[in-house]
Amino acid sequence: MAKEVIAIEGGHRLKGTVRISGAKNATVALIPAIVLAEDTVKVFGVPEISDVDALVTLLEELGCKVEANEDTLSVDPSAMVNTPLVSSAVDKLRASYYFMGALLGRYGDVTIRMPGGCYLGPRPIDLHLKGFEALGATIDEDEDGVYHLHADHLHGAHINLDFASVGATINILLAAVRADGRTIIENAAKEPEIIDVVNLLTKMGAKIRGAGTDTIMIDGVDSLHGTTHEIIPDRIEAGTFLIIAAAMGNMMLIQNVIPQHLDALLSKLREMGVGYEIIGDSILVYGNIKDYKPVNVKTQIYPGFATDLQQPLTALLTQASGKSKVQDTIYIERFAHCEQLNKMGANIETTGKNFCEVNGITPLHGTRVEATDLRCGAALIVAGLIADGVTEIENVYHIDRGYDNIDRKLIAMGAHISRYFVED
Ligand code: EPZ
Repeated sequence: MAKEVIAIEGGHRLKGTVRISGAKNATVALIPAIVLAEDTVKVFGVPEISDVDALVTLLEELGCKVEANEDTLSVDPSAMVNTPLVSSAVDKLRASYYFMGALLGRYGDVTIRMPGGCYLGPRPIDLHLKGFEALGATIDEDEDGVYHLHADHLHGAHINLDFASVGATINILLAAVRADGRTIIENAAKEPEIIDVVNLLTKMGAKIRGAGTDTIMIDGVDSLHGTTHEIIPDRIEAGTFLIIAAAMGNMMLIQNVIPQHLDALLSKLREMGVGYEIIGDSILVYGNIKDYKPVNVKTQIYPGFATDLQQPLTALLTQASGKSKVQDTIYIERFAHCEQLNKMGANIETTGKNFCEVNGITPLHGTRVEATDLRCGAALIVAGLIADGVTEIENVYHIDRGYDNIDRKLIAMGAHISRYFVED
């Protein structure tokens, strides 16, 4: 059976400008949040990724009127009906689960199938469900993995998260904004995407304080209204391009960035010897004018080093002269990219499930590889740009879920990339 691959002929230096798109991990929460509004919400800076398509399908299943125009989404939820979300669109992304909190907040009732998404080890939603129960919801799960949540009276609660989960923090917020009374979320996640969702909800009339800290306070309101919102830039896409620029750039300018969101990565790149300059909301990367030093990376919750960037950075670390160590404290199984990189000539030893050692410098050569998840796909793009010869990356759908036209952006800076179908 024919399958689509992204093919990269490596070894070409990249120069010029790339503009970062809106943040996927904010967008996939902002879109479900819209159902809490009584009238039209307009969102600007929406990235062109397949996750958005899946969420728009779910909005339309709920009877929302959706107008998409380039990077703008206009959603009128005034004629919405609280329909069970059990279609295949739910399976396309894990973030479908944000409709749980939003519909529970709006109607006190929601039926939805457990969502899909990248396999990065077990990814339960126990913290989300415990939060909903604290707010007064009962939860039933049927044998098909369909959840039915119901609350006769959604009321404020004092919730302490066992882990600073991004998803749980946002999902509980979405239910709490319409709950009766005050909700306090302790040990809340502090990612910038959470602040972006809170900014939208606040403009819709929600009463929320403390976003970006580990304690968020929400006072429920009776209704929320329409508004407009510009999505923050994607710090993970920006980080991916910083890594690409460090690998193969020659004066690459990365525009539409909030540098502060990238502090942990920028600090590691500086430690490696990568030359760059921050110019307002852009970062100019000089390119690898000398050998890079190896570094040790340990992922943490924000503002620590982002787990989503350890995979693409690992591809760059194959070009550092010495041994680098990478540990992921967030996911227990996020090292599938190492086997794929080793197929290209890397020398990476994975010990256990959340730790690897990268022995550089190793020349990389093109071959057929498989994107096992979204950020493994990013790591393989970085490696393909470095490698001699042509790298063919399978399962491009993973990449298209989370990167807005990454091949087009790279071709504009001189990369030799194409997409074609190959036989199995
Ligand atoms: C968000 O996932 C992001 N996805 C992930 O990005 C990112 O890696 C992650 O946050 C950490 O920053 C979106 O925002 C759509 P978590 P999320 O809840 O919300 C465990 C990408 O590549 N956990 O902070 O699922 C969980 O198993 C994606 O863009 C529970 O045990 O992350 C994981 O080990 C990948 N129970 C850890 O916490 C729960 O109820 C982090 O999860 C919830 C989470």
